[in-house]
Amino acid sequence: MRCKTLSCLLLLISSYATLGFKIPSIDFEMLDEQGFEVSIPDEPGIQRVFYMLQIDDTCPALMDYITVAVNGSWVSRQKMSLQNNDKLQISLLVQYNEEIFEKSETRVILNKRLLTTRDSNSRSISFPSGEGECQAFLAPQQQAKRCKPAQTIVGSGRRTCQGELIFEDNFSEAQLNKSTWKHDIRQRMYHVEEELVAFDDAARNSFVKEGELHIVPIVASEVTEGSFKLGDRCTAVESPDQECNVAQGSFYSIKPPVFSAQIHTRDSFSFKFGKIVVRAKLPKGDWLFPYLMLQPVSTYAETHYAKQLRIAYARGNAYLRTKQGDDISGNHLYGGGVVWHHGNPVQFIKDRLSTTHYGDDFHNYTMIWQRDKITLMVDDEVYGELYDGLPFFSEKCFIIFGVTVGGFLNFDDSLLAKDVKPYKNKEPRAALSFWQHRDAWAPTWGRQSAMIIDYVRVYAE
Ligand SMILES: *[C@@H]1O[C@H](CO)[C@@H](O)[C@H](O)[C@H]1NC(C)=O
Ligand SMILES: *[C@@H]1O[C@H](CO)[C@@H](O)[C@H](O)[C@H]1NC(C)=O
Ligand SMILES: *[C@@H]1O[C@H](CO)[C@@H](O)[C@H](O)[C@H]1NC(C)=O
Ligand SMILES: *[C@@H]1O[C@H](CO)[C@@H](O)[C@H](O)[C@H]1NC(C)=O
Repeated sequence: MRCKTLSCLLLLISSYATLGFKIPSIDFEMLDEQGFEVSIPDEPGIQRVFYMLQIDDTCPALMDYITVAVNGSWVSRQKMSLQNNDKLQISLLVQYNEEIFEKSETRVILNKRLLTTRDSNSRSISFPSGEGECQAFLAPQQQAKRCKPAQTIVGSGRRTCQGELIFEDNFSEAQLNKSTWKHDIRQRMYHVEEELVAFDDAARNSFVKEGELHIVPIVASEVTEGSFKLGDRCTAVESPDQECNVAQGSFYSIKPPVFSAQIHTRDSFSFKFGKIVVRAKLPKGDWLFPYLMLQPVSTYAETHYAKQLRIAYARGNAYLRTKQGDDISGNHLYGGGVVWHHGNPVQFIKDRLSTTHYGDDFHNYTMIWQRDKITLMVDDEVYGELYDGLPFFSEKCFIIFGVTVGGFLNFDDSLLAKDVKPYKNKEPRAALSFWQHRDAWAPTWGRQSAMIIDYVRVYAE
């Protein structure tokens, strides 16, 4: 019941007058003797502060009405103990002189700290004249679902509400929806530093089964005979001469050693800012690399060196260390972005090291992409936030899912000790070397080498 009363108050936001006052940023402190404190610093003019604190969306919310500032701040002290990954929603009403201002923030606890995952600017609100008006407001059920405008923009340019589901695929149909997803079809060996794979739309490389999308890398059976021709199916845009066909006796000496798939929503769905959640099992096997990413619509899925937002990746290798001994195997999860600056990659990445390979199980991988911040989560645990120096990334993006092999950024030679990789990125015929050393890597591939996606959902932020 108490919850309802406050939602009533918060619903009364009717004028967004912008005045000089802005609610100061909220401080948070964990107390040793179980409990926590939230506060805002005092400012001349603040008369009263009302807090509503909601933990993991449970009701009733904790409420506190503060009428005096103590030691220069307006503090609410709570006995409730908070754990890592608890979500705390803080809503605040501040009376500043005769005006009421409102602000709310959603935060996640991590190592006794609060990480902001969503916040709204403070704004002035007006109160109803009496109880009756408030009742009237609450009466129709749908009023409780008032739209808070989101910063998210979808492909069509339609306005969205915060939290609104704007894209979903559960892969629950018998087949991949071909109007939503398009295949990238071409070989990726064309550049001496590129990937050792051809992407194709063959059913064995990508299919939907029992509500899950499978993307399966398969070792080619014969790579030295005949030529490789994709013909009209080829989707290469920049270098079709090299990417669509490999002539017999060509520079590469072989056809692509591995076939796999990459699919994208470039023609059907794009968005700017939002929260994307992918429930997936990443591929396991040496030199495999998953793509769960977003890419600007001004580029094609096939574009060289396009900037990318990486929702999550972990290398397929069960064991892989850098020269310095850092674990970069599939136990190490990464997310963030890549941009290109004068032809050089600039990566802004956050990571999380686990005791198990990310390909052992399904996990929920989340990226919250906001105007000035990117939050990365796995299974609802925040493992990284990027804001400082976040490169310009404010174009509508589409979704790409795929599994590749090698790649000069994915497996950077300079990170690894000599002879760890069965080929060098800079080697002119890297794919041939890779193929010749297949006894070293092919046995590490198997059923676990598929990337399996249970669902993907995008919400407005
Ligand atoms: C205010 O601050 C002083 C000095 O830090 C401290 O001794 C006092 O206990 C504080 N008062 C309250 C009510 O917390
Ligand atoms: C996808 O799955 C969720 C959870 O089972 C369900 O609520 C939703 O309706 C499904 N969406 C579609 C389009 O099937
Ligand atoms: C494929 O997706 C489109 C757009 O999301 C939808 O309208 C259509 O019904 C889907 N087709 C099938 C067979 O599910
Ligand atoms: C991932 O999301 C699903 C619902 O989509 C949920 O049932 C499951 O508990 C989540 N897993 C984790 C580890 O958070």
